[in-house]
Amino acid sequence: MNLPIPQRVPIDELVKELRALPPSAFDTTEAVQALLAKMPVAEASLAPFLSWDPQHYTRNLIDKTTLYELIAICWEVGQGSSVHNHRDQNCWMAAPIGKLLVENFQVGFQDIEAGKCQLQASNTVELTAANPCAVDPKKPVHRVVNPREAHQRAVSLHVYSQPFDTCVVYSPEQGTCGDIRLHYNTVFGKPVHGTQ
Ligand code: SIN
Repeated sequence: MNLPIPQRVPIDELVKELRALPPSAFDTTEAVQALLAKMPVAEASLAPFLSWDPQHYTRNLIDKTTLYELIAICWEVGQGSSVHNHRDQNCWMAAPIGKLLVENFQVGFQDIEAGKCQLQASNTVELTAANPCAVDPKKPVHRVVNPREAHQRAVSLHVYSQPFDTCVVYSPEQGTCGDIRLHYNTVFGKPVHGTQ
């Protein structure tokens, strides 16, 4: 039996529901993932928050509280993130526009101080509006890719709880890793200039 496809909602409605969740809802993955599945976001409502860069995916802040941040990431065809972690914070993602791949990695060993690691590719999950996913807190290392073969731009929504502004990036090929600072390209629909 096919389940009915939920109707798309404007981004404001998702924000209202996220803000109404109790803090405990962000401690485990189920509630926010269920909310993203119940409320796929309408493409047009995201327009004020989208920015594009041919060199790199863009990070666009939509909402931020002490508990969580909601960002839209815009991916040109072929763009992808580095392999990274989420600083032990929970993370949920959905792709209201296009189709993305989340490639997960198993960490065999990591010594961040020494900048050395050993990673193995594990599973890949398809991310769409109908198929939101949560990063597995026990296996948080992954990268997101908008594959060239998709031939289309993609936009993903990311909920991070709690907000973080640095993460560890890994090179599985080189066996190296290190901290990087994360930036927004736009904040509440306004471009960010210079460093934050
Ligand atoms: C990012 O936040 O810059 C990367 C996207 C992700 O969360 O996987």
